[in-house]
Amino acid sequence: MSAKERDSFKSSLGVILALIGSAIGLGNLWRFPYLVGTNGGAAFIIIYLVCIVFLCMPIMVGEFVIGRRSQANVFGAFKKLSSGSGWKHTGALAVLTCITLLSFYVVVGGWTIDYFVKSLRMVFTSQTDFAAEFNNMVSSTGEILSFTVLFLVINGIVILAGVRKGIERTNKYLMSMLAVLIVLIAVYSLTLPGAKQGLDFLFKPDFSKVNFDTALNALGQGFLSLSIGCGSIITYASYTRKETNLLKTTTITTLSDTAFAIIAGIAILPAVFSAGMSPSEGAGLAFVSLPYVFANMPMGKIISILFYFILFAAALSSSISITEPVVAFMKEEFRTSRLKAVITSFFIVLLFAVLCALSFGLLANVKLFGKTFFDFFDYISSNLFLTIGALLAAIFAGWKIKKEDFYDELTSGGKYKIPKWILKSLRVFVRYIAPLVVATIIVNSLIGN
Ligand code: ALA
Repeated sequence: MSAKERDSFKSSLGVILALIGSAIGLGNLWRFPYLVGTNGGAAFIIIYLVCIVFLCMPIMVGEFVIGRRSQANVFGAFKKLSSGSGWKHTGALAVLTCITLLSFYVVVGGWTIDYFVKSLRMVFTSQTDFAAEFNNMVSSTGEILSFTVLFLVINGIVILAGVRKGIERTNKYLMSMLAVLIVLIAVYSLTLPGAKQGLDFLFKPDFSKVNFDTALNALGQGFLSLSIGCGSIITYASYTRKETNLLKTTTITTLSDTAFAIIAGIAILPAVFSAGMSPSEGAGLAFVSLPYVFANMPMGKIISILFYFILFAAALSSSISITEPVVAFMKEEFRTSRLKAVITSFFIVLLFAVLCALSFGLLANVKLFGKTFFDFFDYISSNLFLTIGALLAAIFAGWKIKKEDFYDELTSGGKYKIPKWILKSLRVFVRYIAPLVVATIIVNSLIGN
């Protein structure tokens, strides 16, 4: 397919917002605040920033170079830039990663719609047993499948509308709304009695909690949060024009994602502490602790509606970016229409999503390697595929892409004047440091398990 026939982002702002949309997701809202609090507060934030700047950003730059240079889907990108060698399987791994990630991500997306609707209907009261409420939802069959399908349909509609009219436009609206809403909730949360305890949990540095695992947690969170290693960045980058400033785009995306995660912590933790609860992570935080907090605080009903909208929007903007690599792969490698690619990917993901959705009810006793389908898909994608994908992308960008081509992409063919030392350092990080550190982490976690 020629570059002319390919869809592309219309503006540089559109690219940045789409990448921010890909980055901001459940990882920021339900994982980051807890990780910070339990891993030494500000000490963790410092380590996280070091990982982001010296490892995640260089790999992200590498992925950007691969995508924009190739102007192809993730499989096509590796195939094209490596002249059809075995490297194309890295692209195939990325497509597989997206499918496994989506399988459980859309289920959680369904939960967010369910709780958003329940908040709108004002079903929750201070008498509600939220643990039971959550268990009933996840172990149901009809309710959970309907909301999972609904989320997948919304996701499919956005993707079907294409890169400009679907992905770019949706992210423009969602990201502006998310930014305003999360700041509003954070400001409100700070006015609650006991807010200081939440801020202490988040920011008080405790270097005694820092160890090797802290660094692992920080790096893993960085990959997940920036959607590195699954082909999302490569695919989005392939829709950008040569004029897009790659380094600026990567820097703004990373800063916005990190700022959003910290503001999410300021929005959530003071509220949790002011309700006299201790914070948790994941589903427990978003669907058990927080609804209790909302039900027992002034203006809680409105905050609850806003919060579940934020959760839904963040999940959607990320799921879109995980679906597009699959759709682009089918569309370009099998030369089919966007419609057929969207429908086919819809049914493939639905098949696995049903298994994940029923993991808490009908299929609770069916285990793969000792894990339910939901946990299994979560584990292999977040802990294994993403890290391996990030490692391979760094090696490819550092060793298979010529130095001149790497610099040419970073400077957009000489349009942007970037100091030589920055270009050189970035290449050193992509070529040596990132692969070495990530490989060490993979080996360590394999030995550890
Ligand atoms: N980047 C997305 C998240 O943080 C996948 O959840």
